[in-house]
Amino acid sequence: MSRIDLTAVIIWLGLLSPLAPIMARPSANAPRENPCLSCHEAIGKSFDSTPHGKAMRFEPGRFVGDCQACHGYGAAHIESADPTKIANPATLSALEASETCLKCHQTEKHQMFWRGSQHDLAGNGCLSCHSAHHAKSEEALLRSPKQAGLCFTCHQNVRKAQLQRSTHLFRDEHLRNRIDCASCHNVHGTQTEKLIAANSVSDSHNLARRWRRVASQG
Ligand code: HEC
Ligand code: HEC
Ligand code: HEC
Ligand code: HEC
Ligand code: HEC
Ligand code: HEC
Repeated sequence: MSRIDLTAVIIWLGLLSPLAPIMARPSANAPRENPCLSCHEAIGKSFDSTPHGKAMRFEPGRFVGDCQACHGYGAAHIESADPTKIANPATLSALEASETCLKCHQTEKHQMFWRGSQHDLAGNGCLSCHSAHHAKSEEALLRSPKQAGLCFTCHQNVRKAQLQRSTHLFRDEHLRNRIDCASCHNVHGTQTEKLIAANSVSDSHNLARRWRRVASQG
């Protein structure tokens, strides 16, 4: 090997070495070392591509733990394969299921006012809108492909209002929603009435009024 080649190799190794801990990181949480996957291979595979699955494998600083972060300590279930020995958030009360999620999400700005919010008080937990393994939307792990469709499963009156002169008249001539419900509402809880996400309810009314003007001009 010529001197130049050797120098190149040394430089190359030198450049790589700081990357070594990063390159090693995924394997620390790699699926095959996960004790749940020997029996739940299919759900484990589909979980990999969800935001939680990605965070679990690649961002152990943000997602601490494995499947047990949401399912609780699993040793007794792993040993017995008895389904009654593991927590399934879907069969917990809405309150308990939401607490599972809030362990990690309560400090986020968006979810900070969840406790005591309208949806919380009405007994609708995180899982009335989200699903960890069977989400239908491309974003935000929602149970329905489209946000408005999800809301209408419970808020029929708002669907009707969209066709009348109201705050909620914001469909275009093809009856498509041109703005998302979350443009005005934060369904996770707010300090204002009607879960309005804007700084004040009047801001949101202005947004609604402005939108109606745009819509009526076609
Ligand atoms: C030795 C095999 C085995 C291992 C290991 C295993 N499970 Fe299971 N698990 C089962 C079987 C069998 C069932 C019942 C049938 C089903 O739902 O697939 C089940 C059911 C479940 C359920 C549904 C429970 C219910 O009542 O709705 C959850 C949640 C679950 N497992 C999570 C886990 C998690 C998390 C781990 C790792 C900590 C794990 N399992 C490890 C075999 C196993
Ligand atoms: C162990 C911590 C932890 C737990 C428990 C947890 N999450 Fe997450 N969640 C995360 C992390 C980390 C992300 C990734 C954030 C990102 O990529 O910006 C995330 C992302 C999300 C997202 C955003 C998905 C997207 O498309 O960006 C939703 C929705 C979500 N979680 C809902 C839930 C629900 C519902 C539960 C309870 C069933 C839950 N989370 C439990 C840590 C957690
Ligand atoms: C009434 C339906 C509904 C409920 C209940 C609900 N969410 Fe959401 N969530 C949404 C919608 C819609 C979005 C996407 C639009 C948005 O960001 O507001 C979302 C987005 C998110 C995101 C993505 C990042 C963000 O902050 O926008 C996270 C994380 C999240 N929800 C966690 C939770 C947790 C945790 C709970 C329970 C404490 C919960 N959600 C309850 C409908 C809901
Ligand atoms: C972010 C929280 C979270 C994590 C992490 C998580 N689960 Fe789940 N799991 C849930 C929730 C919530 C349900 C209820 C159904 C749903 O919402 O998709 C569930 C349901 C299940 C079920 C019952 C069958 C079904 O299809 O609903 C099994 C089995 C399961 N999880 C296994 C796992 C395994 C294995 C892992 C790790 C690869 C894992 N879970 C990681 C939240 C989580
Ligand atoms: C599982 C049923 C369910 C789903 C899905 C749902 N909600 Fe709700 N929502 C309720 C219930 C129940 C209440 C409390 C009673 C009421 O005010 O209607 C509520 C309250 C509200 C309120 C406050 C009403 C008030 O008078 O203060 C707003 C705003 C709202 N929801 C918006 C949404 C949006 C936006 C979505 C979709 C992202 C959504 N909801 C999805 C059931 C649901
Ligand atoms: C342009 C802003 C805006 C958008 C977008 C919006 N809302 Fe509203 N919403 C409001 C305002 C302002 C109020 C409170 C005043 C009122 O009741 O008219 C409200 C009130 C509500 C209420 C309380 C009860 C009711 O019927 O008035 C519900 C439920 C609701 N919205 C659901 C939704 C849903 C579901 C969507 C998406 C399909 C949505 N909103 C989109 C501004 C908006």
